[in-house]
Amino acid sequence: MSNKFYITTPIYYVNGSPHIGHAYTTVVADVLARYQKSLGKEVFFSVGTDEHGLKIQQKAAELNKKPQEFADEIAGQFKELWDKLNINYSAFIRTTDSKHKEAVQQVLQRLYDKGVIYKGQYEGLYCVGCEQFLSEKDLVNGKCPDHSKEPEIVKEEAYLLKLKDVAGELIKKIESQEFHITPQRYANEILSLLKGEGLRDVSISRSSRKVPWGITLPFDSDHTTYVWVDAFLNYLTILGWDPSADSGQVSEFWPADVSLIGKDILRVHATIWPAILLHLGLPLPKKLVVHGHILSGGQKMSKTLGNVISVNDLIEKFGVDATRYLLLSAGKFGQDIDITMERLIEKYNADLANNLGNLINRIVKLNENLKVSVKEKEPSVDLDKLEGFKFDDVLIKIWQLVNDSNKKIEETKLWELVKSDEDGAKEVMEILLQNLSKITVSLSPFMPETAKRIEEILKTNKSQILFPRVEKLD
Ligand code: MSP
Repeated sequence: MSNKFYITTPIYYVNGSPHIGHAYTTVVADVLARYQKSLGKEVFFSVGTDEHGLKIQQKAAELNKKPQEFADEIAGQFKELWDKLNINYSAFIRTTDSKHKEAVQQVLQRLYDKGVIYKGQYEGLYCVGCEQFLSEKDLVNGKCPDHSKEPEIVKEEAYLLKLKDVAGELIKKIESQEFHITPQRYANEILSLLKGEGLRDVSISRSSRKVPWGITLPFDSDHTTYVWVDAFLNYLTILGWDPSADSGQVSEFWPADVSLIGKDILRVHATIWPAILLHLGLPLPKKLVVHGHILSGGQKMSKTLGNVISVNDLIEKFGVDATRYLLLSAGKFGQDIDITMERLIEKYNADLANNLGNLINRIVKLNENLKVSVKEKEPSVDLDKLEGFKFDDVLIKIWQLVNDSNKKIEETKLWELVKSDEDGAKEVMEILLQNLSKITVSLSPFMPETAKRIEEILKTNKSQILFPRVEKLD
């Protein structure tokens, strides 16, 4: 087994400030990366920003800014938020980095020389919000369901990438799980697309008059490349890949072990991206891990609905680790997750302020006189489940142990036992400390700072308030 582990996150568009969906994906990846590190793996964890294309060009123009200036601003906000959220990434890529741009042009040239990119006419319905061509079938009442907007009808000369040819090979790789899409229902969705309507060659260029904010095709300066081609290649260029070296290998980290994405970008990641890799003769990511969306009060978050929950507000209210906890425990990984501020406050108070916070305080207090010392670090609870991306299950398991430990204190009436039967009390305390040690180790990928602080508390036997109660909303 290789000792290397590569996890990728989508690079985020810089057409607006980071939001809770971005934070969710990135925290999930950070937990996985920290967990793999704890197994002794050498981990590469990629993050970045997707900075070209019509959407960003238009947004910058609205704000009277140059696209690059606007992109710099927003990329800065992403970096700031990742630092705040204690995201331990290995590198941050921006698609406007010159090395990346050069590599994209080299790849385009190579694909063109190979004949898998060819000039043609492209006609389709383009949604700027998605930066994707949609089919009639994707529309609801003539509108893109994700952006509630009618797509533009685009009919232009364009360069196309051969996709039709690769459908058969893709089906095989998905079915054999050589290219493992998980959870399974997302694999089924792609298989039924591939076996049903199939793939059609896709336009990979836009007119450089309409979309000047993009990477120019090296073989035709009247065209810029489609943002997704530019964007996908980040997964390779961030590793320092130089396509001109043509060593046949990208880096020791490729193929990625886990590519984490949200369900809205599944189709492109499971068709265009693997097609590019196949055409380049490169292996596909081992796992495409798909998560659902975060909803607020059952609906998509939007300024118009006024139901936006901001990450910065969460951090301010609950602190960094609690925000990470609340995001990952809010629902089943892979499914849509509905949150409301009321429920987050309730969960924070119940799980963190009460259950975990109290357990630590009681242990410290009751151990003041008993002075039982902490043994070796305990192995963690069932973290294997993280290999199956069952974050919420792991957290539930950890909290079972928190609850059991609190119960043990109640059942043994430990506060009385310390007075009446010191040896008996010491025995109970030993079990409690073992549990707490297990809880701490298991929590450390999710709540790294909290884990450190619990260790410190145990070492010094000095209590700290880790999670002050948060008042309910009026
Ligand atoms: N730039 C492309 C990705 C290119 S990857 C080669 C993109 N960017 S994005 O900023 O629009 O979204 C990126 C990620 O955020 C996606 O994985 C998407 O699913 C996720 N989320 C956006 N809104 C979300 C929620 N409300 N909830 C959870 N994740 C969501 O697409």
